[in-house]
Amino acid sequence: MTDTLEIKITKTNKSRLEETDFSHLPFGKIFSDHMFIADYEDGEWKNFQIVPYGDIPLSPAISVLHYGQAFFEGLKAYKHENGKISIFRPYKNAERFNKSAIRLCAPELPEDIFVQSIAALVDLDKDWIPSAPDHSLYIRPYMFSTDPYLGVQPSKTYKYIILTCPVGAYFSKPLKVKIETTWSRSSEGGFGFAKAAGNYAGSLLPAQEAMKEGFDQLIWTDAREHAYIEELGAANVMFMIDGVLVTPSTRDTILKGVTRDSILTLARSRGVPVEERRVSIAEVIESLKNGKLTEAFGVGTAATITPIASIGFEGELHHLPDTSKAEFSNRALKALNEIRYGLVPDEFNWNYLVG
Ligand code: PLP
Ligand code: COI
Repeated sequence: MTDTLEIKITKTNKSRLEETDFSHLPFGKIFSDHMFIADYEDGEWKNFQIVPYGDIPLSPAISVLHYGQAFFEGLKAYKHENGKISIFRPYKNAERFNKSAIRLCAPELPEDIFVQSIAALVDLDKDWIPSAPDHSLYIRPYMFSTDPYLGVQPSKTYKYIILTCPVGAYFSKPLKVKIETTWSRSSEGGFGFAKAAGNYAGSLLPAQEAMKEGFDQLIWTDAREHAYIEELGAANVMFMIDGVLVTPSTRDTILKGVTRDSILTLARSRGVPVEERRVSIAEVIESLKNGKLTEAFGVGTAATITPIASIGFEGELHHLPDTSKAEFSNRALKALNEIRYGLVPDEFNWNYLVG
């Protein structure tokens, strides 16, 4: 741990808490009172500040708008029954943030600065953490390049900002997903493993096309053969096949999710057989047909554990068994929530306590 981060704090003189309807929290639209902001200049991170949430002045020439050096993280803070506040596994996100930074030729942010900046902001805006079941404070740290320069080269200046949003469930119902075999989200040698803004930009059109056909999300497949399952648009994907928890092994084309890792850890610790390996579309469709595939679900910070109700492939829709009876995913969600909300001992040391 480094010394405590020195942060200049300017508090809002008019909190929006009172006027916020906590019974209606659409994902990512309501922001807490403050945000964290820091600058990278002359080869170092500086100007650590917490300021009221609001617009920031930027040059119209900043390089991120042209060449896309932008990436982000997503994690959550939880309020426990006894009033304690915890952030879930922030050092995992700090590590991934730096993997994204390296791949996008941006400066790394020391992990302690990442975690301490988040903890300071969450502590200041702790009254924004909802206490309703399955609710939390979504934390969105991000970095982007700010050189006002149109030459194609890595920027020399960047901003690192953190926003927070009180949220409930990202997906409101079990998903109808389509296995995508034409478009690709990422390819070998690319940056699918990074949480780069560009990965999401490229996935919007295919997702929009699938939505027109009535699907909620895509299951991406490998760009080379479109024969192997990779992940969902905003979450990793897992299957229960013949009593085994099966999930695609991560590669440079797949985002290595913190939730994915947490569920695999929980499953292994409870004696559930786990396989991280290549998962072919053929295997998924075959096991859907012969009834061996009993559960499929997305796992991610925003998504938590979202059941999949049906899977479309080559014009055919395959229905899964009733998701409310899905034994493993419901049990895993309960176990994860119990840890995150401090209802059971934190056996894996996942909760970073704030305040
Ligand atoms: N894959 C993609 C494309 C995502 O956007 C996310 C969400 O963050 C995940 C996987 C799951 O990652 P995590 O569990 O770290 O949130
Ligand atoms: C997350 O779960 O943090 C995500 O990034 C998903 C998303 C809303 C893009």
